[in-house]
Amino acid sequence: TLYDLVIRNADVVTASERFACDIGVKDGSIVALGRDLAAGDREIDATGLLALPGGVDAHCHLDQPLPDGLKMADDFFTGTRAAVCGGTTTVIPFAAQEKGQSLQAAVDDYHRRAEGRAVADYAFHLIVSDPTPEVLERELPELIAAGYTSFKIYMTYDDLKLSDREILEVMDVARRHRALVMVHAENSDCIAWLTDKLTDEGHHAPKYHAVSRPAVAEREATHRAIAFSELVDVPILIVHVSGKDAIEQIEWAQRRGLNIYAETCPQYLYLTAEDLGGEDGYHGAKCVCSPPPRDTDSQKAVWNALKRGVFSVFSSDHAPFSYDDPQGKKPGGEEVSFEHIPNGIPGLETRLSLLFDGVNRGKLSLNKFVELTALNPAKLYGLYPRKGTIAIGADADIVLWDPERQVTIRNAALHHNVDYTPYENRTVHGWPMHCLSRGELLVENGRYLEPKVGRGRFLAAGKPQLLDL
Ligand code: URP
Ligand code: ZN
Ligand code: ZN
Ligand code: ZN
Repeated sequence: TLYDLVIRNADVVTASERFACDIGVKDGSIVALGRDLAAGDREIDATGLLALPGGVDAHCHLDQPLPDGLKMADDFFTGTRAAVCGGTTTVIPFAAQEKGQSLQAAVDDYHRRAEGRAVADYAFHLIVSDPTPEVLERELPELIAAGYTSFKIYMTYDDLKLSDREILEVMDVARRHRALVMVHAENSDCIAWLTDKLTDEGHHAPKYHAVSRPAVAEREATHRAIAFSELVDVPILIVHVSGKDAIEQIEWAQRRGLNIYAETCPQYLYLTAEDLGGEDGYHGAKCVCSPPPRDTDSQKAVWNALKRGVFSVFSSDHAPFSYDDPQGKKPGGEEVSFEHIPNGIPGLETRLSLLFDGVNRGKLSLNKFVELTALNPAKLYGLYPRKGTIAIGADADIVLWDPERQVTIRNAALHHNVDYTPYENRTVHGWPMHCLSRGELLVENGRYLEPKVGRGRFLAAGKPQLLDL
């Protein structure tokens, strides 16, 4: 037959259009969009549902090896299982270089972690923590050519951070080889100084994590990264922007015509520093991530900046640590001082529904939703047009989304391997009902169908496709 699968009566939404049609799928690709397509071997009726491009989560951490007995709760199986149950069909986690390690050794290690485990397709960003001459002159250019066209650098964390000089060197490689640098922008010395003051004064509760990483420390580093980008003349993307101070810097740069892209995450729309708790209790550790959530003014500024196009990408920054876990939020089984709580919160499965709730509340348009969650990340990270849209020739990565469905988020119903969600008991409007990856139905009526573990494929990324700002 002509089609392996026909999705009938789809209400297709892309970043720029909305149209009613049937979708014909053959050998994992979309081969027809039209009315009254011939019968497929299999048929799905999408009446009443939106057909959206599968989500692309361009920022998540899976199975990263960690020091001090810590361990991420999700590997490539449980992480991608959660992703597809949340409507995300492509993930871009990190292959992180340790200091002293070659980049190629890091890449090989992460491929071993992903292969035979992932159920969604995946690419990798590199994390460059040790930019030796060998890395800058040989390894990075070779890896860019081999399909690793984006890399994250850190301005904080002792085991990851680069000096200003090193940042300039890495940016210059990106300029010459047309790769995209992602920057974690927080000022390391400000944080270390504040942390020492706080702990000397006897402050240890999780809430002091946010006090030790104030918006000004993020603002300064954001501005510095922007200045370096201008100096080197290379586009960059600022990851996990938390609120209005950093947004002001980014808009200032964009008004000057600089190619400064930005990403934000669900935690900055839904959490505040208050979620880190008070003087007593440890539950706030569940919301410890960096940069920390700010205040309700910043939440408003983030929603507003999403709508106005200041942000190009909406990612989860899924960094999975269980709460009641000696390898997670209670290292060694102890309630530790704030500076020893592993940073990060889970979010792969809830990313899309949390943002879609804003569509229902008039905070952003449906097309903008698709742009932020699928199209733009696919373009910026070299996966478009195979990923990120519904079009002839694209992979049949399609989410059939019920825009009306009310779901109260409960960790017990999620598919990650983390023992909590920061969004427990929050009700969202809009939920992914069915999820297809390369034409294969992985989730039906919200039920995970247990596809073959390891079916997910590695995607060698092309060069970044820059967006107009
Ligand atoms: O707290 C966070 N976000 N942890 C994950 C690592 C990072 O910096 O993105
Ligand atoms: Zn980061
Ligand atoms: Zn991250
Ligand atoms: Zn202490």
